[in-house]
Amino acid sequence: MDIKKVGVLGCGLMGSGIAQVAATAGFDVVVLEQDQKFLDKGFAGIEKSLSRLVERGPEKGGLTAEQKSQAQSRLKGTTNMRDLADCDIVIEAIIENVEEKRKTYAQLDATVKKDAIFATNTSSICVTELMTATKRPERFIGLHFFNPVPMMKLVEVVKTIATADDVYETAIAFGTKLGKVPVRTVDKPGFIVNRLLVPYLLDAIRAYEEGVGSITDIDEAMKLGCGHPMGPLTLLDFVGLDTTYYITHVMYDEFKERRFAAPPLLKRLVLAGWYGRKTGKGFYDYTDPKNPVPGKFV
Ligand code: CAA
Ligand code: NAD
Repeated sequence: MDIKKVGVLGCGLMGSGIAQVAATAGFDVVVLEQDQKFLDKGFAGIEKSLSRLVERGPEKGGLTAEQKSQAQSRLKGTTNMRDLADCDIVIEAIIENVEEKRKTYAQLDATVKKDAIFATNTSSICVTELMTATKRPERFIGLHFFNPVPMMKLVEVVKTIATADDVYETAIAFGTKLGKVPVRTVDKPGFIVNRLLVPYLLDAIRAYEEGVGSITDIDEAMKLGCGHPMGPLTLLDFVGLDTTYYITHVMYDEFKERRFAAPPLLKRLVLAGWYGRKTGKGFYDYTDPKNPVPGKFV
């Protein structure tokens, strides 16, 4: 199957990055959001990211100004799902909530052409559970990108027990055309990366709660001790504490193991609406984005 037109559902942190990468790779892209204000926010993020890549320059893996404007010319935003009807693949990156995703997939299934592939960017939700909301089980996969999508080379390609082999191979080839490195995995909670990363991130919160170190000391220790580009608490603010909180519930429900349970502090930060960078405050206060100030919660 030849993929020419890409639909993206959601223009938040991930959807905007996925749309940007697909448009930069030469695909026509339609991004659907529930409200124009979310499209405007997502497109502003795309503009900022593309400008950073132009500043970087093609010799350092960035873009020319011409490539930036070509990518933007291929990007269309909409709040009308019917504009996705003729897409060859629809990549969903909406809120990490099973009910919301299943409801949306049922609508998508009735709207988008029958031979289109559906690909969820979910971090943790059972892909098979989303697939059963549609009548195209053999054309349903997971396509799990990493944040920030323009910078992270990995895409996990998730095969369910129902995915057709030719659809799976089309998805692998599509991931490569996007300039990503596809890895093959199956529909197990957290796939590969989050199966290992989420317990590490949650343990960082537990270590902080137990007084093992301050927020900055824990982050500095992992950056300098393990060569991580970001410490775990900075990364949690980057991923989004709301998204992380949803992920912990999905993974704990499947594994029933403490290491996947949301630490009390994470629940309280989310209840307070402190989701991290996206709301300006999480473990750190981003009033001055260049100088995040660590909170004091214990
Ligand atoms: N768009 C375009 N360019 C970007 C960018 C973006 N979103 N983010 C960073 N860059 C560019 C910057 O412009 C900069 O380029 P120059 O050197 O030319 O100025 C370069 O990348 C480095 O950026 P920074 O100086 O801001 O900082 P950095 O060196 O730390 O790189 C980073 C930023 C790539 C995000 C790096 O910090 C990193 O890799 N962090 C780890 C991210 C990570 O672990 N992601 C996985 C999260 S888990 C997940 O995604 C799965 C899930 O389901 C939750
Ligand atoms: P986000 O909150 O930044 O964006 C979600 C977007 O979905 C919002 O803009 C919201 O308006 C939109 N939305 C919600 N319901 C919708 C609907 N019915 N129709 C259209 N748009 C709708 O979240 P995010 O961080 O981009 O996460 C999105 C998905 O990607 C989740 O499944 C998450 O698990 C996954 N993911 C997140 C990361 C990360 O680091 N944040 C990494 C990989 C995968």
